[in-house]
Amino acid sequence: MPTPESAPAAPRDDVHPTSHETIVVLDFGAQYAMLIARRVREANVYCELLPWDVDPQRARALTPRGVILSGGPASVYEPGAPHIPDWVWELEVPVLGICYGMQALARQLGGAVALSAVREYGPATVEHDGTSPLFHGLPRRLEVWMSHGDKVSGLPPGFRPVAQSEGSPVAAMEGPGGRYGLQFHPEVAHTPLGRELLRNFLYEVCGLRGDWTPGSFIDETVSAVRARVGEAGVVCALSGGVDSAVTAALIHRAVADRLVCVFVDNGLLRRGEREEVEQAFRRHMGIPLVAVDAAARFLDGLRGITDPERKRKVIGETFIRVFEETVAPMRGVEFLAQGTTYPDVVESAGVHGNATAVIKSHHNVGGLPERMHLKLVEPLRTLFKDEVRRVGLALGLPEDMVFRHPFPGPGLAVRVLGEASPERVEVAREADAIVMEEVRAAGLYGALWQTFAVLTNARSVGVMGDYRTYGHVIAVRAVTAEDAMTADWARLPHETLARIAQRIVNEVPGVNRVVYDITSKPPSTIEWE
Ligand code: XMP
Repeated sequence: MPTPESAPAAPRDDVHPTSHETIVVLDFGAQYAMLIARRVREANVYCELLPWDVDPQRARALTPRGVILSGGPASVYEPGAPHIPDWVWELEVPVLGICYGMQALARQLGGAVALSAVREYGPATVEHDGTSPLFHGLPRRLEVWMSHGDKVSGLPPGFRPVAQSEGSPVAAMEGPGGRYGLQFHPEVAHTPLGRELLRNFLYEVCGLRGDWTPGSFIDETVSAVRARVGEAGVVCALSGGVDSAVTAALIHRAVADRLVCVFVDNGLLRRGEREEVEQAFRRHMGIPLVAVDAAARFLDGLRGITDPERKRKVIGETFIRVFEETVAPMRGVEFLAQGTTYPDVVESAGVHGNATAVIKSHHNVGGLPERMHLKLVEPLRTLFKDEVRRVGLALGLPEDMVFRHPFPGPGLAVRVLGEASPERVEVAREADAIVMEEVRAAGLYGALWQTFAVLTNARSVGVMGDYRTYGHVIAVRAVTAEDAMTADWARLPHETLARIAQRIVNEVPGVNRVVYDITSKPPSTIEWE
């Protein structure tokens, strides 16, 4: 990240609403903790994901109406194992423990946990006894996903089992004061009725009303942005992606023409992208937009560079310089609006303890606000991607823009393996446009998280007419995902793949072979670089 070391951190904003009914999800190190938080939000309840050892004052300040304890890899009797902090009991609100969370609940309230070296992993059927509000309206037998070693062997005083499975006599428990435990994972897709179960916890047990909606978010955020920004000007860098577009639309609603959007054409964009952004903002939304053509500067800077992280660095630094030069003559600009979203915030806070494990430096323009002495406004800091999209639609952004596939900041440069010369970028752009057209024509665009073409640095022998060719190899990538942390390769129909391959070889000069990437993330990543 090109963050200048001497610069002090830019002041963060505080423009997100806190007046909502709030649930705290306490993270015990689970793989799925973020997913629990998303499910709660999907049920129109605001929630925050906090580490189990969070500063109690921070947790209390949210006045939570309920607490959900996540799973985790530890065993409750291990020395130093995460435990439920005192503030949770002091709140006197309902508590739902999932997997490790249930075991911690049992242990700390006087029950017992049986240790096991063998994991119960995979689908299971649980049967509930029809008496618990947690299972309200659900069929007696449900398919669920189990993933645990240890399990509750002795219930705490006052608790009773309310569901069982073949492997877990206490698949769910209920205790006084709205305290519940689930041995299985309601948050994953493999527990098809898991959303209803979580809804029951929120609505039937915690008695919430569900006041977290795009409309309420917009109204409150607009007032908060106005209060923070006052009469100052705001600048927002548009990338063409949904996060910056929604940020701009929200800020525009708050401060109208005191917002200026800057769109930098870095020469690494997809075909037609600049025109689409101009069309959507200037014409459709009536938001002032400064488009800067800096393609030559970026492509010059990339000459001879093959290392992916080096490319990112050059692009990030060039962006900062171009942006600075563009904004410098503007008067009264004091704020920079950024499309930071909740997963970025959680990841950089290191809830999962892996904040330092940088696989790819995604935040290509870190350091920008400090350098430019701008204060930050980040109105989407509390939102997941699907919430950003709902807010975008509610603000009237065109659907095409709201449901756009994510596109990396360094653009086609990380989709051209090796040197991103202008000619090679053009090959990737043409191939990408064909992939996109065919995927759209097949009606598959909406079902995919991302799809694109990669120009590999392999050369392959082919034959065209009577001639031997020695040409480029294009790799096609299409993935499904709920977020970019994991992804599965998409089972595109063979006919679509065939059309893509045929068109790329026929229409993109110099390409004589197309391959399809059939790896998931992990162990691969979505982008090739
Ligand atoms: P990976 O390749 O790490 O990508 O599985 C996860 C998501 O992040 C996008 N991505 C980037 N976005 N700057 C960005 O703004 C980057 O340098 C960058 N690298 C990857 C990628 O497209 C996917 O959505």
